[in-house]
Amino acid sequence: MIEKKFIFEPSHSDSLTEGSVTWQSPSNIALVKYWGKTDPQIPKNASISFTLSNCHTTTTLIYTPKSAPSKSFDFNVFLDGIEKQDFAPKIEEFFKRIEIYLPFITDYTFEIHTENSFPHSSGIASSASGMSALSLCLMSIQKIVDPNISESDFIEKASFLARLGSGSAARSIEGPLVVWGEHSNIFGSSDLFGIKYPDAIHQVFTTFNDTILLVDKGVKQVSSTIGHKLMLDHPFAQARFDQAKDNMSRLIPILEKGDLDAFIDIVEKEALSLHAMMMTSDPYFILMKPNTLEIIESIWAFRKSSGCHICFTLDAGANVHVLFPERDKKRVDEFIKEELAGYCQNKQFISDHVGSGAKSVAS
Ligand code: DP6
Repeated sequence: MIEKKFIFEPSHSDSLTEGSVTWQSPSNIALVKYWGKTDPQIPKNASISFTLSNCHTTTTLIYTPKSAPSKSFDFNVFLDGIEKQDFAPKIEEFFKRIEIYLPFITDYTFEIHTENSFPHSSGIASSASGMSALSLCLMSIQKIVDPNISESDFIEKASFLARLGSGSAARSIEGPLVVWGEHSNIFGSSDLFGIKYPDAIHQVFTTFNDTILLVDKGVKQVSSTIGHKLMLDHPFAQARFDQAKDNMSRLIPILEKGDLDAFIDIVEKEALSLHAMMMTSDPYFILMKPNTLEIIESIWAFRKSSGCHICFTLDAGANVHVLFPERDKKRVDEFIKEELAGYCQNKQFISDHVGSGAKSVAS
């Protein structure tokens, strides 16, 4: 399936000299989860996420014209200055998927230099922020040849490309809330790219906090890519996709009114449904750890005793994202430090909050 709208055909044949571009892209945390897709990276249901702020990837793309033409993708990837050959297959696959939309990528040799603000192997996925930053860098190169591209087309195509790298990356371009996947109640939503959530957002959600508890920093035993595939013949798949669709509809008035009790109900339900799908896949698997459950129980007890609007969500892993409004920050921070940190590896957690999206960095 080729999307003609996104094919870049330069109107003149000037080629670029060498140069470099840099983007910093945030991570995101889904409230309604994407779990299940068809080719090419088309989600089975719409998802929505908070864009984060402190957890981000910075990528510099150095481009040099090839001395002799070739049809191969020539690139080297570096993480914190060290070459990472194990990243190459994912990027090679990404380049294959996007070549039709950015035909110039075979004209250059690239050096991709990337660094994450969060610790290595923290169990925080860097694919969303990483694929977003790389896509934005590639769009900056397109823009040099195509300076008249509008800001909105630039952003839309960056999200479109990022999606082809990793689905959730489509939601790591803008902020504070991004929807990816077509939903009849959300105007402009698309399976092809993420959009800034277009409807009213109560002020409480524009300053929301997300503290990420690092429960297990090891490599997951089942990747998201495999998890998504297992949804294709999952016995509960259709019910799950319907549930996500319904949760998205229910979230619209909640986001407008700032109804925190209803927000908590949907967000926790989504997290547990995601993990329920994993536990009932064939083969089945569990990504939560005993401490994930200890944390959930503690959050529920603290919510009851304190009246704070604190809740949890989960990614495809054991780490817990603790979500809470700014007004509860003092009490929740104390609770995390005193109680929840004890369930984390080396007592490590990352304090983050809702952010406004990716930034271009002057090279
Ligand atoms: C559980 O975006 O990592 O975090 O498209 O195969 O790269 P690929 O999957 P990925 O899946 C993310 C799944 C999730 C839920 C979500 O972020 O919506």
